[in-house]
Order: sequence, then structure tokens, then C-alpha cells
Amino acid sequence: MADTFDVIVIGGGPGGYNTAIRAGQLGLSAACIDKRGSFGGTCLNIGCIPSKALLHASERFHEAHSEFAALGIKATVELDLPAMMARKDKVVGELTKGVEYLFKKNKVEPIVGEARIVAPPSNGNLGKVEVKGKDGTRTLTAKSIVIATGSDVAKLPGVTIDEKQIVSSTGAIALKDVPRRLLVVGAGVIGLELGSVWRRLGSDVTVVEFLDRITPGIDGEIGKAFQRVLTKQGFTFHLSTKVVGVEKGKSGLKVTVEPAAGGERSSIETDIILVAIGRVPYTANLGLEGVGVALDKRGRVVTDHHYRTNVAGIYAIGDCREGPMLAHKAEDEAVAVAEIIAGKPGHVNYDAIPSVVYTFPEVASVGRTEEELKAAGIAYKIGKFPFTANARAKTISATEGLVKILADAATDKVLGCHIVGPEAGNLIAEVALAMEFGAASEDIARTCHSHPTLTEAVRQAAMGVEGWTMQM
Ligand code: FAD
Ligand code: NAI
Repeated sequence: MADTFDVIVIGGGPGGYNTAIRAGQLGLSAACIDKRGSFGGTCLNIGCIPSKALLHASERFHEAHSEFAALGIKATVELDLPAMMARKDKVVGELTKGVEYLFKKNKVEPIVGEARIVAPPSNGNLGKVEVKGKDGTRTLTAKSIVIATGSDVAKLPGVTIDEKQIVSSTGAIALKDVPRRLLVVGAGVIGLELGSVWRRLGSDVTVVEFLDRITPGIDGEIGKAFQRVLTKQGFTFHLSTKVVGVEKGKSGLKVTVEPAAGGERSSIETDIILVAIGRVPYTANLGLEGVGVALDKRGRVVTDHHYRTNVAGIYAIGDCREGPMLAHKAEDEAVAVAEIIAGKPGHVNYDAIPSVVYTFPEVASVGRTEEELKAAGIAYKIGKFPFTANARAKTISATEGLVKILADAATDKVLGCHIVGPEAGNLIAEVALAMEFGAASEDIARTCHSHPTLTEAVRQAAMGVEGWTMQM
């Protein structure tokens, strides 16, 4: 086992493992260190993958339970939660094993243990990283060190997460029983995705959100349509509201809330609380202070456009630096940083990073929202198309939602696309690609799309930018 590498990557999530694999592909020797014991990071172990496995299973359960009859199918449906959880764990296990396979294929050395940078690469000396593993401490050296240590759950002051009654996303993907009542703090992506899982399995779900809207940051019109759909599905929303205290009682939890702006307090009784108020960069015990790596006010590692920190030879990517906390953003930065370290021109286009909320219907967006364009004083045109007028959506009984395309008023260049509707997460890829190529809305409008598909809704919205939508 060599102790010297071209690149040492700290963190084995989508940022870290993809950096190491791309470095291996480019002929660099690479080690990837993770303290978790299983590679894949937050995403594969406790994030994207287990949550999507449960979203899929719970959606099928709900469909079989509540929608089969309308399709002319008679079925007796019963929930087997332990089996649903076991399948989720199996999916996670297979994917984390897949990362190990890719490491082997690309000659990456996986190392399990907690890493700390003890010396930066400087003046021709190699950087040093100490790894505390179960077999003791090992010191590794490298020309380049990449920090890809990800993020952790943001804590709600005064509320202690025990991962049993008061859970973060980690506890919420592993509950042993369906709670009768679930209170979600934070109407963001995690709250609404995992809230959907438990709502479909039978919980009464109440969401307390500090702001006056759900999923802040997404296009306002799409956000409102999304909230209407979730409300129809049985979610109860308390917007502009904050949690000020939680008391544990014999029959559950008593949550005291008050208006965000202050005012009269009230209480909500619940069985389980999911705290989902965001995530914070994770760089604890990494030795950053010792080697002088700068963090910003929010605790994120400061980097330039080439992912270089202020210390030569040390780079940072993924959730621990600025930008959306998304697996595919971390992955793209991983490829770019490995290419930059190998002397190639690595690059990420931050204007075309899609984001998806995997509820039903899904919500997906890429580029700028209408509010952002207004604030920036950019003149734009809009094309919209509702799924009620899409033939495929009718055939699959999924007509809720719309596609909205925003294009530059002068050049017709696509500036953003926002979708709430079936398969929105897949539909957005076409627009992300169009934006990557600098396409105009007319390019999408004049591209032949198969019939009957949901993709036609995207095309019709693009046609709507110039006012020649046809299928309505
Ligand atoms: P991480 O995946 O967090 O990996 C960092 C790794 O570093 C961890 O495994 C940690 O153990 C390790 N580490 C930290 N410090 C050290 C150290 N000192 N030594 C050794 N190892 C260390 N994103 C999406 O794009 N799509 C989704 O559907 C999605 N769903 C999500 C659902 C949930 C419930 C959550 C919580 C997140 C979800 N995300 C999703 C976000 C996504 O998981 C993150 O954006 C992504 O994992 C970030 O990748 P990363 O490599 O930067 O960090
Ligand atoms: P989030 O930032 O999406 O949402 C947090 C919500 O909590 C916001 O609406 C915020 O206004 C609210 N909030 C903050 N403080 C509050 C308080 N004290 N009381 C009530 N509400 C409060 O964060 P979330 O949902 O925790 O997810 C964390 C990150 O994980 C996200 O940034 C997201 O990028 C990533 N993620 C991505 C997924 C995806 O791509 N599908 C799925 C899950 C997570």
C-alpha cells in the first residue's frame, strides 16, 4: 500500500468519489478517505438514494391503495413497512458497493477513517493527511488535497434531535412505524419529500414554515401551484410560523408555535417531529485552522473558480463550498477539479444546474425564476402549458401542474424553465441541455417531440413563448 498519491480526496460522497475516479481515469494516483465505513456519502447512504427508494415505494402503495380502482383494477393492498425499509437498504447497499467497484476499476485506494490535514503541500513539499482508522493512524502524503466533506443537518435551537421522536432526515428514512401525526419543521425539499413518504403511508402531516411560502427559491407561480396540490393531498401548512418550543408528554409531543413576526402562541400535538430547516457545511476536525484554509461567514470553504482554497494545493468542492447543495452539482465540480489538477480546463456551468423535488407531482427547475429576472431588470417572454392539455398526462391520470419557460425578450435565448407536474425531473433535462447549448425557445418549439409524451408539454410551452401553442 502506497502512502504517497497525486491526489488525496477527503470525503467519499458524490463530490469525493467522483473526484477520485476521474483522477484515476486521467492517470493520477488517488486515495479517497471516508469515515463513514461505506462510500457514497450523504447522498447514497442517508440522502438522495434511500429517500428516493421510499418515495418510489410509498407512491406505488398510494397508487395501489387509492388510484387502482379508478383504473379498473381491484386489489387488496397492505403495507409491509419492514419489507419496504429492507428494500431501501438493499438499494443503498448495491449502490455503495458500486462505488467500491468503480474505485477498483480506476485504481483508486479507498481508505476508511477520519482524515485531518496536518500540513499543506508547499514549496515542493507534499501535503500531509493523517487518517485515524480502526487499525490505528496512517499518514499519507500528496501533491494535491481535495476537501469534499459535505454537509450536516442544521439544528433548530432548543430542539434536540434524538432520531427517534425528534428526527432529522436520517431518522425520518428509518422510522419503525407509520406515525399517526408527523410535524415537519421547514417546507423545503427534505420536509416535502419525506413528508410525502409518510403522508402516502397514512400519517397526518403538518408543516411549519418560517417564511410565507413553501420551497423558497423556486419560481413563485410554480411554488403556489405546488402548495395547492400538496394541500389537496392532505398536507396542512402553517406558513410565516416558527417553532418556539417542544415538550415531551405521555401521549406525544407538544409543539409551541408563534407567528414568525411575533404574536400569540399556540400549540400543535404530534407524534414525530422532522426537523428539516436546511443543511450546513461540514468541516469539523479537519485541521483547516491549523493549515490556514479560510471559511466564509456560513462556514463554507472559500474557493476561487478553479476550486482552489487560499492554501496552494488544497481544493474544495461539493456541499462544503458555495452553491446549491445538490449531488449532481458536487459531481460536476468533482469532474472539473480532477481535470484542473490534471492540467486540463475543468469547468461547471452554474447557469444550467437543474434541481428537482421528487414529490408527486415533481417540481423541477433550471435557470432563473421570473422573480429573479424581474429583480435583475431583464426583459423576458413567457410560454406556459398546463398538463391538463397534454394527451399523455390524461392517459396516466396526472394532469396537475404546468410547464413555464422564460426566454430573453430580445434574443429568445432560454433563461429558465420551471415545471410542476408528472416526471418533471426527467423533463427538465431537455431544457438544461438546451440552455447548455445556448438555445432559443424556438429551437425547442421546432424540435420534433414524440406523441403522446409528457415532453410535448415542454415543447408546447416553448411554442407559447411566441404565442403559437397548439394543443389547447
Ligand atoms: P457528502 O455526500 O455529504 O459526503 C461527504 C462525506 O465526507 C461523508 O460521507 C462524510 O462521512 C465524509 N467526511 C466528512 N468529514 C470527514 C473527515 N474528516 N474524514 C473522512 N471523511 C469525512 N441531492 C440531490 O441532488 N438529489 C437528491 O435527490 C437529494 N436528496 C437528498 C435527500 C436527503 C435526505 C439529503 C440529506 C440530501 C439530499 N441531497 C440530494 C443532497 C446531497 O446528498 C448532497 O448535495 C451531496 O451528498 C453532497 O455531496 P458531497 O460529496 O459534497 O458531500
Ligand atoms: P431547504 O433549504 O430546502 O429548506 C429549509 C426550509 O426550512 C426553508 O423553507 C426555510 O425557510 C425553512 N426554515 C428555516 N428555518 C426555519 C425555522 N426555524 N422554522 C421553520 N422553518 C424554517 O433545506 P432542507 O429541506 O433541510 O434540505 C437541505 C438541503 O438538502 C437542500 O439545500 C437541498 O439542496 C438538499 N436536498 C436536495 C434534494 C433534492 O435535490 N431533491 C432532496 C433533499 C435535500
